[in-house]
Amino acid sequence: MGRLSADDVRFFKENGYLVKRGVLKPDLTERARDHLWENAPAQLDRADPDTWIGPFEEENEDGADRRSGYRWNFRRPGGEEWMIRLLATDPDVYGMAEELIGEGKLQVPKRIRGIYCTLPYGDVERRPTGCHVDAHPFHLGVVGYIDDVPLGGGSFSVWPGSHKRFYGAFSSQYKYEPTDDYDVIRVETNEAPPVECHGKAGDIVFWHHRIGHMAGHNYSRQIRQAALYDFRKIDLEETQEEPPCEDMWRDWDGVPS
Ligand SMILES: [Fe+2]
Repeated sequence: MGRLSADDVRFFKENGYLVKRGVLKPDLTERARDHLWENAPAQLDRADPDTWIGPFEEENEDGADRRSGYRWNFRRPGGEEWMIRLLATDPDVYGMAEELIGEGKLQVPKRIRGIYCTLPYGDVERRPTGCHVDAHPFHLGVVGYIDDVPLGGGSFSVWPGSHKRFYGAFSSQYKYEPTDDYDVIRVETNEAPPVECHGKAGDIVFWHHRIGHMAGHNYSRQIRQAALYDFRKIDLEETQEEPPCEDMWRDWDGVPS
């Protein structure tokens, strides 16, 4: 019992995200890196970091392997058994998700989103930051780094506490129907800089489905490589269109109101 401390749960409740270090299994993060490189376009040479700087010379429209600008969303391996085990069904990741949401309450993971990469920008000026809330219905997101992500290296970046404001800015709990408040909150939220959840291979970031976030800009010399999964409760279909609850933690067994 207890992969998460009471402080972890309090931090998640207050800030809408939680970083846990060294959770993913090294043999699987290594396998994911190797798989990524085996499928990299010719432009990228694993042995020559100078070639890692974006943008992509050739865009790829295929949704399973989308490359555009500095972004590479490699979704194709997301359904492979070892990829699901890397992140979603890792006993520690899954156990912590259950501690937040409730034992036996999660849908069985069938696939993860895949590996999302951001190429280094090279020698460029700093770019503006801005948050968004994801449009698809889910409860708890998890980002798992399969390689080191230094500060300024394109980490998953969050606006702490914004989940509490954005939660009430949609007409339903889990679907994407922003009210007029949404844009007002977004503009106000963007006045502060985000917190960069940088880390090492194996680190994970849990995040509340309504937190304002962005994929950070990558001013480092390495490719940001993250696996993503979204935990959903079994009852998501039935509860997703309910209006936001007075108690925004009603659906979270492990988070005291
Ligand atoms: Fe997003």
